[in-house]
Amino acid sequence: MLLLENGTLIPGVRVENASFSLSLPALANAFSTAAALGRIDIAAVSFSTAPSEADLAFLRGHPLRPFSRVGERLFKSDRITRLPAPGSVIDPTIARPGEWSTKIALTQTGKLSQHAIIPESDFPVGVLVELADGRLIPGVNVEHPDWQQIVCAEKNALGTAVTFGLLDIVQIYLNCPTDDQASPCGACRQFMVELAPKATVWMDRGIRDAEEADVNDLLPGYFSGKALHRNS
Ligand code: THU
Repeated sequence: MLLLENGTLIPGVRVENASFSLSLPALANAFSTAAALGRIDIAAVSFSTAPSEADLAFLRGHPLRPFSRVGERLFKSDRITRLPAPGSVIDPTIARPGEWSTKIALTQTGKLSQHAIIPESDFPVGVLVELADGRLIPGVNVEHPDWQQIVCAEKNALGTAVTFGLLDIVQIYLNCPTDDQASPCGACRQFMVELAPKATVWMDRGIRDAEEADVNDLLPGYFSGKALHRNS
């Protein structure tokens, strides 16, 4: 759980993937949810269980550091002196504007990519996930000097969807403002097919009309992990 400077809380859960090594750790999930919402004013981080060595390394290296350990499961940003009182949990969704079309969605997605944290690549990516009820969940890529800890924009938005139990996903809009060939990476395709199998993906290349694909067609023969459930 992240505590922002004004007391707002941002949760993050661990998102397991059928391909275990692609799983999104709770800490990276919470940090990327915060970045996509434009909230980098993180005052403290608390863990529900003892932080792992990987969590400690994540906090040490993250562009939003430094954090100092002030309890067994609590870390405080060095930028603040006193911890704010915890308030309410953030709403991770954006309301859909009255006028709405694929074009408007992709423009919004492009603007969103300004929140990307990209010291490694200088390559911003923005994602908007649209739910069946019309609400939107943002995602941007959030980088880390340890590239294994980088969260892609698609993974970010889907991780937020899992944290908040908002998985009735109908559309996924992608915008890479600096790449006219943009296409989701293999790991993100795996994430999308597992978590948003009914969704349509819109890819904005900036130069012509956005390309559309069913999530299911983006990763033929994907690893479903069904055999992993043989004992359940
Ligand atoms: N990236 C995404 O956000 N989504 C993709 O599907 C491909 C790659 C990001 C990750 C990293 O921050 C940067 O783009 C370069 O790989």
